[in-house]
Amino acid sequence: MGIVLVVDDEPNILKVLSARLKKHDHDVLTSLTAEEAMQRLTTENVDVLLSDYMLPGKSGMHLLSEAKEKFPNLPVIMMTAYGSIEMAVEAMKQGAYDYLTKPVDYGEMCLLIDRAIQERALVRSKEPKASSSSFAGMIGKSPEMRQVFDTVMRVADTRATILIEGESGTGKELVAKSLHFESFRKKGPFVAVNCSAIPETLLENELFGHEKGSYTGAHRREKGKFELADTGTLFLDEITSISSAVQSKLLRVLQERSFERIGGNEEIKVDIRVVTSTQKNLEDLVGAGHFREDLYYRLNVIKIKLPPLRERKSDIPLLARHFMRKYSKENNKGIKSFDPEVTKALLRYDWPGNIRELENDIERAVVMCSSDRIVPENIRRSIISRAAPEALLPDVPSAGLNLRELEKAIILKALEKNRWNQTTTAQFLKMTRKQLRTKMKHYELLGHVDSK
Ligand SMILES: Nc1ncnc2c1ncn2[C@@H]1O[C@H](COP(=O)(O)OP(=O)(O)OP(=O)(O)O)[C@@H](O)[C@H]1O
Ligand SMILES: [Mg+2]
Repeated sequence: MGIVLVVDDEPNILKVLSARLKKHDHDVLTSLTAEEAMQRLTTENVDVLLSDYMLPGKSGMHLLSEAKEKFPNLPVIMMTAYGSIEMAVEAMKQGAYDYLTKPVDYGEMCLLIDRAIQERALVRSKEPKASSSSFAGMIGKSPEMRQVFDTVMRVADTRATILIEGESGTGKELVAKSLHFESFRKKGPFVAVNCSAIPETLLENELFGHEKGSYTGAHRREKGKFELADTGTLFLDEITSISSAVQSKLLRVLQERSFERIGGNEEIKVDIRVVTSTQKNLEDLVGAGHFREDLYYRLNVIKIKLPPLRERKSDIPLLARHFMRKYSKENNKGIKSFDPEVTKALLRYDWPGNIRELENDIERAVVMCSSDRIVPENIRRSIISRAAPEALLPDVPSAGLNLRELEKAIILKALEKNRWNQTTTAQFLKMTRKQLRTKMKHYELLGHVDSK
């Protein structure tokens, strides 16, 4: 089948593992140290590296990172001591394909190695598209988004569980989909479950399914999402809202990759990649005792943090143009550009609803627009007006400022703009004429005016 390099400092273990793998039609190479293993990797055409975590001299983790650096597409499987979940998690973070706990289950080992070899054959070479500003349907060129694209590309083909953290509308579901469609699993199903939308009592049923007669109303056997997602990706959206009963069951599936339907005792094995998302900081919930720590470790093998749009404003013009083109086409409108005032306002606004809010606003503007250019009148008022005070004051000087002086300067500017007409100036400043006159008196501006 393939060439497997096994690394362990115990000659007896090497012997046993090699015998098993040979029986399974693999060619086996062995090394007692990390240094020797690196040499073998450069001279032989190894398909899978299977290494112990503890090695004398350079550790197994060292070997893992060196091997991944030189041969990014080489699947590496780490063997860790039973119960040392932190090490296993660390190995996955460093790019390990998977891990096995000692004593090794030979059946599981052979399965994993076969799979790694098959998947490796499917992996096409993925060149990072450093200059491109879109990736798998996601737009962005800020360093923050580039980092997200890089991570997706790096981890898509591993089995590592992924936690996506981000505020509402930052693109969590889109990232989950890109992890699926950029991986060898793309031919399998992408199954999404919104955990916060399903009542607690029904969620277990939804995820794991049930046997006929397992409860009143269970007229026939029904498959749960875990079974439906077999060979694909299961996306558990808003994971923080699951009950502790479902948390325990989920932990078991992640550990053993098998489960039982409700009311059944047949063990069902599934091959899935689990991706979860949260708007909240999951670590805080663990700290507060609302979420199981051991489950958190399993879910958080790799974290992808999506920054809010206000922290990557350089992406706003790009996204705005993208949505403008999309909705212009959808609505058969030949809109080509944004008025510069619109772009400025979009950049100043804080976007609490993130990309979803931006998308909705651009869609609305496109519908309202009656020329080939989107003008301020097409944009939601709160975006334009909320932006206005900041426009006057782009930066607060670090030395501080005199608010009275500033108010005086603004009133003076407003008067000049309105040719010293107090009625229109008062309207412009959204105050009564009387209020304006009081201020003008206070700032000794009345003398300048041919008051009318
Ligand atoms: N980088 C991006 N490029 C283009 N469109 C994006 C990007 N990120 C998000 N979107 C779009 O913004 C909208 C919201 O994205 P998505 O549903 O993935 O967000 P979410 O984080 O899951 O939100 P919620 O927490 O509210 O469920 C979608 O229409 C999506 O297509
Ligand atoms: Mg979502």
